[in-house]
Amino acid sequence: MVELTDTALQIDAPLAGIPQGPCHVAIIMDGNGRWAQSRGRPRLFGHHAGAKRVREIVECCPTLGIKYLTIFAFSTENWKRTQVEVAGLMSLFRRYISKEMKALAAKNVRVRFIGDRVRLDAKLILLMDQLEEETKHNDGTHLTIALNYGGRDEVARATKRLAQDVAAGKLSPDDVDEETLPKYLDTHVLPDPDLVIRTSGEARISNFLLWQSAYSEYEFIDTLWPDFSAEELSRLCHDYGARDRRFGAVKT
Ligand code: IPE
Ligand code: IPE
Ligand code: MG
Repeated sequence: MVELTDTALQIDAPLAGIPQGPCHVAIIMDGNGRWAQSRGRPRLFGHHAGAKRVREIVECCPTLGIKYLTIFAFSTENWKRTQVEVAGLMSLFRRYISKEMKALAAKNVRVRFIGDRVRLDAKLILLMDQLEEETKHNDGTHLTIALNYGGRDEVARATKRLAQDVAAGKLSPDDVDEETLPKYLDTHVLPDPDLVIRTSGEARISNFLLWQSAYSEYEFIDTLWPDFSAEELSRLCHDYGARDRRFGAVKT
């Protein structure tokens, strides 16, 4: 039996999880702009509302048996937006990290960032480092935030480092295979996502976890991100439990 409080799900048996539920859920948090526009408010209003949803979703993970949660916060293509929106988002990321740092550390959440840091401002990078450092001994939910992340960019950066290792004689071209390449990806310490959810009704992946989601299950739902809830995540995790993942094989 699932009961909701304002911030987290509670169930009769703590940490029961969901039978056959996903261990790693990745979310494309889309629809903040439309959520704000439908209320006659600027897009940044939607981004602020979206950031507030993150806390509830992170907090319900242990109850749902989700060990890894990866969220798409800003893509390598999102720089194409107006300067006002990009600057507002960067400021929101700084505020979010400063504000949530203590709570995340106290809730045993381990935070990591993936994506390319080169275009991010020094203040933000410092906060990202600090949050990773503050939470590095936590072993509860593994929260990964994709910030200035693009799947193609990640594979290109990984390939560059791999080529450098080959050139330096540390790696033989014969050893480059499906096991070696992911070790160079930003996600090298994470399992592949079992379930990828995209909110806002768009049925595309927009450059998210291209390599890692080769065999993920997908859920494209109409809810706009600021309206997404722990209850809806719980429903999607239950639906996932009923899916038949075959990985190309035929069950005998
Ligand atoms: C997702 O919401 C957040 C980011 C991409 C940063 P959007 O800003 O893309 O919202 P819509 O899709 O325009 O509604
Ligand atoms: C994907 O959403 C990126 C994030 C959610 C951070 P977008 O809104 O940028 O994707 P498109 O432009 O609709 O493909
Ligand atoms: Mg969008």
